[in-house]
Amino acid sequence: MSITYNESTKTFLLNTKNSSYAMKIAPYGYLLHLYYGRLIPDSDLDYLIQFQDRGFSPNPFEAGNDRCFSLDFLPQEFSTSESGDYRSGSIEVENEDGSRIFCGKVSHFDIEPKKHLLKGMPSLRAGDQDTVQTLTIHLQDEISGLQADLIYGVFEEKDIITRSVLLVNNGSGPVRINRFMSATLDYMDSDYDLIYFAGRHTMEREAVRIPVERGLHAIGSSRGSSSHQYNPSLILCEKNAGEEHGCCYGFSLIYSGNFLMEAEKDQYSQLRINVGINPRGFSWLLNPGDSLESPELVLAFTAQGLTALSHLYHDIFRDNLCRSPYVKKPRPVVINSWEAAYFDFDEKKLLDIAQSSLQMGVDLFVLDDGWFGKRDNDCCSLGDWTVNYAKLKDGLKGLSQRIHQMGLSFGLWIEPEMVSEDSDLYRSHPDWCLRVPGRPAVRGRYQLVLDLSRSDVCDYLIAAINRLLSEARIEYIKWDMNRSLSEAWSSLLDRSRQGEVYHRYVLGLYHIMDQVILTHPDIIFCGCSGGGGRYDPAMYYYHPQIWCSDNTDAISRLKIQYGTSFFYPMSALESHVSICPNHQTGRTVSLKTRGITAMDGILGYELDSTRLSSEEREQCRRQVETYKHFEELVLNGDYYRLSSPYANPYFTAWQFVSKDKKRSVVSVVLTDKESNDAQRFVKLRGLSRQGRYRIEGQERILSGALLMNAGIPIPSGLKEYEGIQFELTMAEER
Ligand code: DGJ
Repeated sequence: MSITYNESTKTFLLNTKNSSYAMKIAPYGYLLHLYYGRLIPDSDLDYLIQFQDRGFSPNPFEAGNDRCFSLDFLPQEFSTSESGDYRSGSIEVENEDGSRIFCGKVSHFDIEPKKHLLKGMPSLRAGDQDTVQTLTIHLQDEISGLQADLIYGVFEEKDIITRSVLLVNNGSGPVRINRFMSATLDYMDSDYDLIYFAGRHTMEREAVRIPVERGLHAIGSSRGSSSHQYNPSLILCEKNAGEEHGCCYGFSLIYSGNFLMEAEKDQYSQLRINVGINPRGFSWLLNPGDSLESPELVLAFTAQGLTALSHLYHDIFRDNLCRSPYVKKPRPVVINSWEAAYFDFDEKKLLDIAQSSLQMGVDLFVLDDGWFGKRDNDCCSLGDWTVNYAKLKDGLKGLSQRIHQMGLSFGLWIEPEMVSEDSDLYRSHPDWCLRVPGRPAVRGRYQLVLDLSRSDVCDYLIAAINRLLSEARIEYIKWDMNRSLSEAWSSLLDRSRQGEVYHRYVLGLYHIMDQVILTHPDIIFCGCSGGGGRYDPAMYYYHPQIWCSDNTDAISRLKIQYGTSFFYPMSALESHVSICPNHQTGRTVSLKTRGITAMDGILGYELDSTRLSSEEREQCRRQVETYKHFEELVLNGDYYRLSSPYANPYFTAWQFVSKDKKRSVVSVVLTDKESNDAQRFVKLRGLSRQGRYRIEGQERILSGALLMNAGIPIPSGLKEYEGIQFELTMAEER
């Protein structure tokens, strides 16, 4: 049993294969957190909590004269509000009488032998082989009637625990929810580091590691989407934790909207982690009988370091999150028209690119932005999803037919959530976008955002996209989103509900994706938001691959892909070879290195292949061939970060290893070259110690132990930005 309750100590113990999570119903009904870490058998952990009389720490009324019971320092599972806990909390409310108190106490609990699935939001689901139980602990504020159901999903074999909260207003008056976390975790110590992933457009998910310090540290998004700036993922780890050792906790929120992740080291050096919807811009009116569910948080613990933590997320996300039937299957190698032609194309130009790309061995041609309305630049036409016949004389159908006749599949770019003021859609429905009447609208990339909190707008989009998908033979859709939200105000909601718009937008988006993406399982949907501006687990639920960044420079990509790899499987990451000098950085890197870097994910191309020489196209063909040879490792293997582009200025290296350890592919890119430099070695990982491996192109057979401990010397003749890639196959198993 992965979830047990000890009646005499009132302790819940949630056990996975290698981790335990414990909490107890304390005196007066408060739910206290006791432990999260390595597997333990105990269900009496009471000694861990030292009740003390601490100055300026108030005591709940029920405690009577007991000055040692205070919520000011006790570790809680879902903290109270305005009840003597001054840390950043789980919830903030406004009751009908204007009071801001939520004081939830355990009323009862249920244990079910299945995974709870969230309504209207993506969440993990149990696979056929999984042992999953769900514990729901009902907390009730007896005065306001607000109930908080804390929901814990325990994936025993996979070392994963999920948390979410369902609020139900059982009272007789409305309650306004101003802050709502999916989970709070109170640690009784704080000697940890935090790792989070920060960035900007074209430089997403740079790994940042800082010590936990006194005070409140927060990351999050208030841009309406999960954002380029911070990813909804966080690691808390021991100070000496590295790739191969140390206790690490992972937090990953399955949500695409405004989120908040806080780490607060309090006066007693205890640590509180809060994760949930960002309260900035959020306020939800809960009338009697109404309910509101938080997004799901995926928690993982390992004592084996950062790689093991990544593997837990890669596996659970591939196995239990992504709904695409392609998640573990080979994907087409695409050639995308964006950096090849931008808006400047006609059918002939596209067909020429497609034709010349045949020699490269690609599988699918993607027509990016610029094919609809009168879109010759980014000032107009979003919302008018009808083909521009001036550019494509026989429409999408004709183009798709010709592409298919060449033997390629066909893909298309859309950006359904947006509208241009210069569009028929905007002219007929000016109230369908997020803006406040009487105020000039804030534009982003000249465009406005459709109001997906409105069901009529969602219905329109579902019909429009489904119509488009039936217009031509389309095997791939790139779903883009190119601005941050602002003026989250909806014409259909009254003033008391405008604080709901950001979250309702996200729910509307999920509804549309449910109706479009899940009903077209044969089409591969690639997520995108100006590159990686909405690179989050909820988008991975719908899209087996996500365009990782608008920065296609191979050297920049080393950092971007490194940061992305901590939580997301590399098969979720679409990466393209583009032209040099690179359009974003101006850097020139060899075609070989560009290929190696793009194979650290789902390989594709984004260039005008007519401008490549025949030799270069032939080189691309060999790249595609190589990639397909080890594609299975990218899709379903284990991933190892062999060196960090931050800590190691000289080279960045990574490795895929098959689950049975019989095959592996290693990639190394030199990022700095000194004259007469030191001999450097790349130490491999994940191999069988006893197994003996043949290195591609060499006669030698070496043991896994040697390759992992002594490593492989980096060839001294390698120049700056040059790369090597080689395969290892197990020659003898011992
Ligand atoms: C942003 C995307 O990330 C690019 O790849 C491209 O599709 C453009 N949008 C098109 O407008």
